[in-house]
Amino acid sequence: MTLPTIEFPVDKIRLTPVYKNNDRLCTIKKSSFETNIPRKIIDGYGPIYFPKSHKDRPYIYSSMVLTLDGKSAFEDENKSSAISKGNYLDPDGGLADLWILNILRTYADGIIFGAKTLQVEENITGHIYDQELAEDRISILGKKEKIPWNIIVTRKGTGVPLDHIIFKNKEVPICIATSPEGFNNISHKLNREYLVLRDKYEAKNITQKRILDKNKIVFVVTGNGNKINLTHTLNIFRSMGIHRLLIESPTFMYVLMQEKKLDEAFMNYSGIYAGGEFTLGRNQAFSYKDFPATEILSIHIHRSSFLYTRQKIDYKKSSS
Ligand SMILES: NC(=O)c1ccc[n+]([C@@H]2O[C@H](COP(=O)([O-])OP(=O)(O)OC[C@H]3O[C@@H](n4cnc5c(N)ncnc54)[C@H](OP(=O)(O)O)[C@@H]3O)[C@@H](O)[C@H]2O)c1
Repeated sequence: MTLPTIEFPVDKIRLTPVYKNNDRLCTIKKSSFETNIPRKIIDGYGPIYFPKSHKDRPYIYSSMVLTLDGKSAFEDENKSSAISKGNYLDPDGGLADLWILNILRTYADGIIFGAKTLQVEENITGHIYDQELAEDRISILGKKEKIPWNIIVTRKGTGVPLDHIIFKNKEVPICIATSPEGFNNISHKLNREYLVLRDKYEAKNITQKRILDKNKIVFVVTGNGNKINLTHTLNIFRSMGIHRLLIESPTFMYVLMQEKKLDEAFMNYSGIYAGGEFTLGRNQAFSYKDFPATEILSIHIHRSSFLYTRQKIDYKKSSS
C-alpha cells in the first residue's frame, strides 16, 4: 500500500507574515542545529528554525486548527478538515493549514496521535504528504528516516482502533506509548510481532530500519497500573532518537501543558464560527493560580480568512 501524496502549489498556499518576534526567533535560530531550510518553505512561509532537544526529552510542539470562536470541530462533523478546508471563503487557506502541518512533520522525529483522533480520522497517517518536503527532510535537513515515528498514546489501550490504516502500511514506523495495563490490553490483540521498551537504555539501539524490516511495532511501557509515567516516556523517546516531537492529539497537548512540558504551540484560526461544545481542554481546566501563558513568536495570514500563529509556552506563573 503506497502512502498518498498531496499537491501544495506555492501560489495557493503562500502566507503573508504580519508579525515576527525577532528577538525570540533570533535566539531560536542560534540554538538550532539546522542551517539550511527547504526552498519551498522559504518561499511559502519564510525561514523557520527549531531549538535543539532538551537533554532528557524531545523539544515538543503541537499543531491545531480552531475556528475563530475557539472550536476544534463542528458538532455535526468532527473531522478537523471541516473547519479548515471547509471555510468556503478561502479553501486554499485550509490547504495552507495542512501544509504548515506538513512543515512541522518534516522537522519532527515523532508524531503523537490520540486514540479518539484515529477513531474519527480513518485515513490519517503521520507521513509527509508534500513530496518535495518529504525529500528535503532527508537531503536538506539531514534526517535518516523518511517518516517520523507514528506514536499512539493511550493509558488503558481499549480505545485504540487496531484496524486503522496506520497499522496496515508497512512503511509507517509505529510506536504505542502506554501503561502496563494498556500493554496487556493491546499486545494480545495484535497479530504482529512487537518490541517492548521500558527504559532509556533499551531504547538506545533501536533503529526504524530494524523495526520496519521485521514489520514490528514498538511499545514504550512506563508507569503503574493504568497510569503512564510521562517523564519516563519522554526520556525513552529521546533515547530512541526523537529530538523533536509533534503533538496532534488535542487531549495530550493539554496533558503536556499540565506537566509544563509543551514548548510551543502552532495554533491556526479559520475565519468561521462553529459554536457548540468542541473546545480544546474541555475537561482539563487550569486554575487561575497556575496556568500557561504564551508569547507570540509569529503571525501569518492567508487572504483575509485565516490566521496562523506560532507561540512559545511560558510556565512561570506558579501556584500562590
Ligand atoms: N482541530 C484540530 O486541529 C484537531 C487535531 C487533531 C484532532 N482533532 C479532532 O479532535 C477529536 C479527538 O480529540 P480528543 O482530544 O477528544 O482525543 P485524542 O487526543 O485523539 O485522544 C485522547 C488520547 O489521549 C490519551 N490520554 C488521555 N489522558 C491521558 C493522560 N493523562 N496521559 C496520557 N494519555 C492520555 C487517551 O488515552 P486513553 O486511551 O487512555 O484514554 C487518548 O489516546 C477528533 O474529533 C479529531 O478529529 C482536531
